[in-house]
Amino acid sequence: MTLQEQYEDARRRYSRRRVFLGGAALAAGGLLVPTTSSAFAAPAVLLTAPKTAGSALRPFGRHLAFGAVPSREVVVSWQVPANVTAPYLRFGTAPGEYGEAWPAEVRALTSDLAWQSEPLFTVDPHVGQAVTQHYLHVRIGNLLPNTTYYYVVGHQGYEPSAGDVATFRTAPAPNATTPFSFTAFGDQGVGYNALATNSLIADLGPQFHLAMGDLSYANDGEGGRPDDRYDARKWDSFFAQNDLVAAEVPWMVALGNHEMESWYDHHGYGGMRARFTMPDNAWDGSTCIYSWRYQNVGLISLDGNDVCYNSDANLDYTEGRQQTWLKAQLQKFRADPSIDFIVVYCHQCTYSTSGNNGAEIGAQKRWAPLFDQYQVDLVLNGHNHVYERTDPIRAGKGTKKAAIKSTVNPVKDGTTYITAGGGGESINSWADSKIADSYYGNVKDATATMRVDQEDGESKSVKVTWSRVRYRGYGLVVVDVTPAANGTPARMRVRALTETGALVDELTLRRS
Ligand SMILES: [Fe+2]
Repeated sequence: MTLQEQYEDARRRYSRRRVFLGGAALAAGGLLVPTTSSAFAAPAVLLTAPKTAGSALRPFGRHLAFGAVPSREVVVSWQVPANVTAPYLRFGTAPGEYGEAWPAEVRALTSDLAWQSEPLFTVDPHVGQAVTQHYLHVRIGNLLPNTTYYYVVGHQGYEPSAGDVATFRTAPAPNATTPFSFTAFGDQGVGYNALATNSLIADLGPQFHLAMGDLSYANDGEGGRPDDRYDARKWDSFFAQNDLVAAEVPWMVALGNHEMESWYDHHGYGGMRARFTMPDNAWDGSTCIYSWRYQNVGLISLDGNDVCYNSDANLDYTEGRQQTWLKAQLQKFRADPSIDFIVVYCHQCTYSTSGNNGAEIGAQKRWAPLFDQYQVDLVLNGHNHVYERTDPIRAGKGTKKAAIKSTVNPVKDGTTYITAGGGGESINSWADSKIADSYYGNVKDATATMRVDQEDGESKSVKVTWSRVRYRGYGLVVVDVTPAANGTPARMRVRALTETGALVDELTLRRS
């Protein structure tokens, strides 16, 4: 079944069950109210319990996002453990000096998976009741560029204290020449390795972080399959864990295969639409497919599930729209003289020699020619839980050996692809069994095996020479951007760090 068919099937069964429960509850004086979005949104959600006073319900899981214009637009999101009255955000340019309360948009996400008579969606045995999660969002526009704001979130009955204050900082104006940094990883999950990579982000203090899919692993199956196992409340743990960093560092997300949750609407992305507010400016209704710019860097988030044969539940679900939009967006960015670098981020691997998920023929055939044509400088992804950096690639071939601490000119040399899937969930191995799992460091003149899933479902192994640096461990990528100034061209220094901050790889990208 496609994701949409799975959703329709789930909804049919759910509706039958709800008719019965709803009638009983109404007779007993229960209350039926509509949800604002997502899972099984069409039927009503039963709320028999009155709202609590709210005083003991602490907001948690704060996470920020930039809008498409990060010098002016920020979204503050958080969660409350139950339905509360009048949730709000207050902010200002000094702690304690806040303006009026901004009401939050409440997105109630109900996951009721207990209806099935057979395990269509297998869940933990404790799930005998519906779980409703309350995600709150405030979009702020017209902010001052390059400005630190202090903020608090609260609701009726809960007044935030001094310990609840957090900050966000808007980007400088697009033409500013301020150096800045961002971090990236995929496949974070929940656990102590995820906490370690979080701590490293906090220590590095980037202007934003790219979370490249397979975020919480609440869906512990392959993604988009009827036999996926799902625990909705693992998202609560994920957000509580990440509050440490995401409350102050905008957390820009891309979709992974584990975000295909077929019991929600919007091709399984209804849950993601409740939890996050990304710019989503690709087209009306796109989910986590968007472009934005931070000073001289144009950024594009893609949904690899649309081109992925490895987990194919959403293959071609955009019916070509993502491809058309990607081409137009790359053209626009490359034609803009104020944008030096184009960074694309997504979940699945265009090029990788890890064996667990291999590389994606869909990305190689559909996206890589566009990356070549518009000279994309850097492609970042997760999916395979390793670190791997390619030599610059054009037309599928490495153009030169780019050792650790070397410099690449993307105009002449091509696109550098980095898999950074060591965010915390687990670690994968290499496709070539001759390469030691513990291998760490520069790969001198080595060939490696790339496993590519084909359109017909078969897997093909290809010998490649572009796999330059590999590391099998937890960590992240940090990119330091220095815009052009005083005759010095713009450059991006890309480093891979272990979860404890040790340097694995370093590469400089300079266009000329
Ligand atoms: Fe994945």
